[in-house]
Amino acid sequence: MTQYIVRGGKPLAGSVTISGAKNAAVAIIPAALLIDGKCRVENIPDISDVHDLIDILITMGATVTKVNSSTWDFDCSHVRQTRAPFDKARRIRASYYLIGALLGRFGRAEVAMPGGCDFGSRPIDQHIKGFEALGGTIETIGGEVIATSKQRLVGNGVYLDMESVGATMNIMIAAVLAEGTTVIENAAKEPHVVDLANFLNSMGARVSGAGTDVIKVKGVEKLHGGFYSIIPDQIEAGTYLMAGAATGGSVTVTNVIPKHLDCITAKLKEMGCTITEFDDAVKIDAPGHLRRTNVKTMPYPGFPTDMQPQIAVCMSLAKGTSIITEGVYDNRFRYVAELRRMGAIGQVDGKVCVIEGTDTLVGAPVKACDLRAGAAMVIAGLAAQGTTIVEDVHYIERGYENIVGKLRGLGADISRIEVPEPSSIVAAVG
Ligand code: EPU
Repeated sequence: MTQYIVRGGKPLAGSVTISGAKNAAVAIIPAALLIDGKCRVENIPDISDVHDLIDILITMGATVTKVNSSTWDFDCSHVRQTRAPFDKARRIRASYYLIGALLGRFGRAEVAMPGGCDFGSRPIDQHIKGFEALGGTIETIGGEVIATSKQRLVGNGVYLDMESVGATMNIMIAAVLAEGTTVIENAAKEPHVVDLANFLNSMGARVSGAGTDVIKVKGVEKLHGGFYSIIPDQIEAGTYLMAGAATGGSVTVTNVIPKHLDCITAKLKEMGCTITEFDDAVKIDAPGHLRRTNVKTMPYPGFPTDMQPQIAVCMSLAKGTSIITEGVYDNRFRYVAELRRMGAIGQVDGKVCVIEGTDTLVGAPVKACDLRAGAAMVIAGLAAQGTTIVEDVHYIERGYENIVGKLRGLGADISRIEVPEPSSIVAAVG
């Protein structure tokens, strides 16, 4: 069992380099299945979700070679398998992109229902609606999605019931090799949607409109190999900015696209922080005391749901009462119970959380309930007096590259330790 030990109460200071965007990488890697040739992808984050997907591709017959810590070569031209290894695929959310890629290339996909963080029900009905509109037949048997099509997929119009990031990207992936034009309406506009479109276009696809709510995909016969560099991770950058704010520090995030951070820095400014933008960096200087604010999470360019737990920590330390309304998921407040162990005052009612600011948080043993909630526990630990032990950090490592090393670079007192599982302690004692 891995834990983080955080000794808090010290303002963070310095600069941190942001890695490539997780939610772009986890779509681009499965999309490599569409390419007839070799592609080199740079700025891939070194996180467990990426390693799981690379393992899946290798198991299916792809040649994947590490060039350096963030650059990989993919050659899927000789892949013939259409079934993703069940246990690996069901562990991660992004395995759903394998369905679009395999169906688009081979007309058949067998992929476990996706796993991922538990925020209540996370259906994939919009993905399925899109695949069916393109001529696919979708069944779910034994926890596995079986998608088939007798012939090449055929482009069609798909109107999404909600701006789903996953459905937008998955339908885009499936449509790239289809015959004719696919039009996705009410599409998600997140930076990683645009990044996937740019990746596909650089390999010969014809995707237009990504970043608006109507995306057009003109099908092509095949994709060729090429070279691509993934955009920086908006949420990783936002997380370090929040850590700067919560600890009263001064932090610069480098290798970022400042425009992608506007929705996050706008709120930090409201809380009294000074934000300075550079070409590819953003600096935060936190005030002595943060001010209260309200947040409603929304699809891009709204405030991201993936920053909700991190800003809750800042609100816990702000003067006054703040309100968070979760606008994307049914149940993303499980971490509030963990924050309360550290002295935060938060009340949850359905999709709303009311947070009463307090002067100090106090270190405690807490759990990472999911990826972003785990990052929030680390931030809370850094801002708290005393020692915080964060358990279940495998969630954090799904999406944050070297978080311990990066925080240490900002002066944090944090270490990663291995402790025996409780059952093995009992066995040793017994
Ligand atoms: N939804 C449906 N049906 C669908 C698809 C979505 O009802 O077919 C609902 C979801 O239940 C949710 C909302 O629509 O209430 C939005 O879901 P979306 O499809 O946008 O999310 P996702 O594709 O499952 C991705 C990211 C999440 C991020 C969301 C929102 C990946 C692998 N995951 O999930 O990332 O929270 O978009 O931006 O890209 C994270 O990085 O921590 C994370 C959870």
